[in-house]
Amino acid sequence: MADRNLAYRLNAPLRFDIEGAAFKCDPLPTFAAMREAGPVIPVRLPFVGKGWVTTTYASTIAMVKDNALFVQEGRHAGKSGVAGMQWWMPNTLRLFANNMLLKDEPDHRRLRKLVDKAFQRRDVQAMRGRIEQIADGILDQFAGQEEVDLAGTYARRVPLDVICELLGLPHQDRETFTAWTRGLLSIKGPLSIARAFGAIGKMTNYVRGQIEECRRAPREGLISELVRAEEDGDKLDESELLSMVLLLLIAGFETTTHLIEDSVIALEQNPIQKTFLFADPAHRMERAVEELARYTSPVQSTKPRFVARDSEFFGQTLHRGDIILALVAAANSDPAQFDEPGRLQLDRFPNPHLVFSSGIHFCLGMQLARVEAQCALSKLYARYPDLQIVEPGKLQWIERLGIRGVKSLPVRLNATRARLAA
Ligand code: HEM
Repeated sequence: MADRNLAYRLNAPLRFDIEGAAFKCDPLPTFAAMREAGPVIPVRLPFVGKGWVTTTYASTIAMVKDNALFVQEGRHAGKSGVAGMQWWMPNTLRLFANNMLLKDEPDHRRLRKLVDKAFQRRDVQAMRGRIEQIADGILDQFAGQEEVDLAGTYARRVPLDVICELLGLPHQDRETFTAWTRGLLSIKGPLSIARAFGAIGKMTNYVRGQIEECRRAPREGLISELVRAEEDGDKLDESELLSMVLLLLIAGFETTTHLIEDSVIALEQNPIQKTFLFADPAHRMERAVEELARYTSPVQSTKPRFVARDSEFFGQTLHRGDIILALVAAANSDPAQFDEPGRLQLDRFPNPHLVFSSGIHFCLGMQLARVEAQCALSKLYARYPDLQIVEPGKLQWIERLGIRGVKSLPVRLNATRARLAA
């Protein structure tokens, strides 16, 4: 306790590793130790330096809902740029930063309104049949194979194909995307940073080209709709348009990829729960995906925010311009909110997890992500109920702040016992 008070008095960051493979493999002990230290604590964050993080459900939900005190744009907190963005990062990244997630009101609302409709529950439910078709199509390609990397193929391809279709990007380009996004997987050390920036640059050029093509010849999909909105007047400018498409593309599939692969890992580690789910998937899948999302928390934190003014927050003195981020994964494992949070309980209800955050920046794509995960798991296990993870003790976790997923997920399909597609 004495040490802890000293750390606070000095305002010094506490040493918690929330990036490394050991943490990603089993984050709950670290979250528990962080909560012990307090509901809001200072830590050292990659790229950012000292920052505050929330560790409890109460402090996390309070933070994400208070968009007056916690802001995205530096100019609202006596700083410049957006939180976490450094002067040495390339221009392409700055371009990417011109999106709703990194804006405060009123720009945030203006940008989000342009795409809100496409991601509402009713519109997404209408896509269920098509998402199932996409999942089936990918599974068809597994025919004759005994072992596949589920992360690099299925878990990645289902959300990627869905978001590309929604945006109206050509089918033949999707493999190229997959290659670029691999460069983003493990940003650690100067070489990998350079690789990641290179990939972002290529992606930006590609999207810019697609926007131009949609301008010349409008086609089905959100990009053409957004181009029309840009041409209509003052709804969004050219750089916002580019940034919006990049945000939807990146936010739209990497996160869901990790939800699908993490869910497979969780189900294989919890065979009794798996049996329970697949005894009646039609009625149990919806709640199960909520619980798998909470239990695995594939997105562990929000993006950093700035503190807008000096203030007391959950016992800590925060200063204007300080950086803070909400550890939604810690909130999802807070025993003050969830009974036995470390136990996977697929019929858990109610389940007020913060996987998709809350407040004005709550996830735009949460309905889509839910339906994608429901379809992907149903279709996968309908064909391969007995699939097995190859060497489950040797999974390689991605060492990147805020994301919980594996680099690859080799599984044995047990195709000889595979059932026909449901
Ligand atoms: C399992 C999958 C997903 C998870 C766990 C997830 C999680 C999150 C979280 C935690 C936030 C808040 C970030 C912050 O406040 O800093 C967020 C925002 C956002 N998500 Fe997702 N997401 C997922 C899938 C998707 C999909 C499929 C899309 C579709 C395009 C999407 C688009 C967005 C956008 C555009 C925002 C910013 C919203 C705003 O600023 O108003 N996400 N997501």
